[in-house]
Amino acid sequence: SVVSVQKALSGDIGTGSEVTVRGWVRTRRDSKAGLSFVNLSDGSCFAPIQVVVPDSLENYESEVKRLSAGCGVIATGTLVPSQGAGQSFELQATAIEITGFVEDPETYPIQPKAHSLEFLREVAHLRPRTNLFGAVTRIRHCLAQAVHRFFHERGFYWISTPIITTSDAEGAGEMFRVSTLDLANLPRDAGGAVDFSRDFFGKETFLTVSGQLNVEAYCLALSKVYTFGPTFRAENSNTTRHLAEFWMIEPEIAFADLNDDANLAEEFLKYLFRAVLAERGDDMAFIAERVQKDAITRLEKFVEAPFARIEYGEAIRLLQASGRKFDYPVEWGLDLQTEHERWLTEEHVGRPVVVVNYPEHIKAFYMRLNDDGRTVAAMDVLAPGIGEIIGGSQREERLDVLDARMDKFGLDRGHYGWYRDFRRYGTVPHAGFGLGFERLVVYVCGLSNIRDAIPYPRAPGQAEY
Ligand code: 4AD
Ligand code: MG
Repeated sequence: SVVSVQKALSGDIGTGSEVTVRGWVRTRRDSKAGLSFVNLSDGSCFAPIQVVVPDSLENYESEVKRLSAGCGVIATGTLVPSQGAGQSFELQATAIEITGFVEDPETYPIQPKAHSLEFLREVAHLRPRTNLFGAVTRIRHCLAQAVHRFFHERGFYWISTPIITTSDAEGAGEMFRVSTLDLANLPRDAGGAVDFSRDFFGKETFLTVSGQLNVEAYCLALSKVYTFGPTFRAENSNTTRHLAEFWMIEPEIAFADLNDDANLAEEFLKYLFRAVLAERGDDMAFIAERVQKDAITRLEKFVEAPFARIEYGEAIRLLQASGRKFDYPVEWGLDLQTEHERWLTEEHVGRPVVVVNYPEHIKAFYMRLNDDGRTVAAMDVLAPGIGEIIGGSQREERLDVLDARMDKFGLDRGHYGWYRDFRRYGTVPHAGFGLGFERLVVYVCGLSNIRDAIPYPRAPGQAEY
């Protein structure tokens, strides 16, 4: 029967069984004793399976001896315990079918050696064949499954929010416009000749920066909800932690304050870390060996200890007293930069930290104004190695205060009429947050560039495929 490599190596199949495995050649080594050892990977788990091919096979000289990295192979044989170190079973081949050779093995981009991540970004369509991207892909999947499981177990409902929208959910003007019009080449006096239906049927629309405002509507009826979908930011940040297209998870809870929100964020992250530790030990062992030495131990540590919680004002005082020279100024009223966030989480507390109650003028219009009148009930969760991975807040549920904040930010009330409705019809305190999915993957996998945490990164100057 046809089985995955993961199944073949799992011990669930009896020794001596006849099985077929299918995949791509990693390496081939020939022994003097008339045997070839072909490592075959199908991506189902980290390990490849070793296929032992005897020279008695009829296509041994003509085909097996030509196998190189990347060839597509279907191997049938007997599963036996392996003598080799570090592997449970191997396949003693009775037949090998080659579905596709590699055209020119010398120039095949994915050679069996370590490649630079910069190079692999240029061949994003082939990089899933490497050990690292196989591991990252499986860990990403494990995290996504755990996200849905976490919320499902707690009675949250998954809400699909729109990708094409007219609302700027963050009010920061960082939206990509949806249009197929060639604006640069419009005829001067095009008048009625321009087909504006190509600009979303004549209406100016954008790609969403966050599903939050939409999901608040569902929160204020179903109590516990979340989004998990793609979001887009037209900020021109060419950094190792920004993408123009990324995935975000945004839970929203009714009858909740900032403290409930921070508790949820902490419980959520710990649940995700535990899932990776429990389910992807094989990939995490590779990450620990090749990417980040303490990848496993730090996750183990973080699921045990409570996250630190610091007031923004206190964070400013700590940074000022640190004696550290930062590139950006540290002063009450200024936003924290990555270098500040990393100092706080890496050097000051040495584990994830939740910073709360930021100055109101540096945070979004929907955040709830605190009684001091100068801070809002906002929180950012900072993680070592990356800085902010979660941003959230208690929402402003009082219509008059919300209106005043919208005026202050220069936002058109009419445009946000539907959002104001929630405050007019049965308003309740509520809160939520957004976890950047790729930042989570970067963190768990110890990556140094967010472009390696998503299959096809979109960033300034990067839109191939
Ligand atoms: O802090 P942000 O902008 O918050 C919101 O969008 C809120 N609407 C969330 C909410 O309360 N429901 O973004 C949330 C998270 C950040 O902490 C970061 O992890 C990630 O989204 N993020 C990005 N990830 C990759 N590339 C970018 N350009 C990102 N911008 C934000
Ligand atoms: Mg933020």
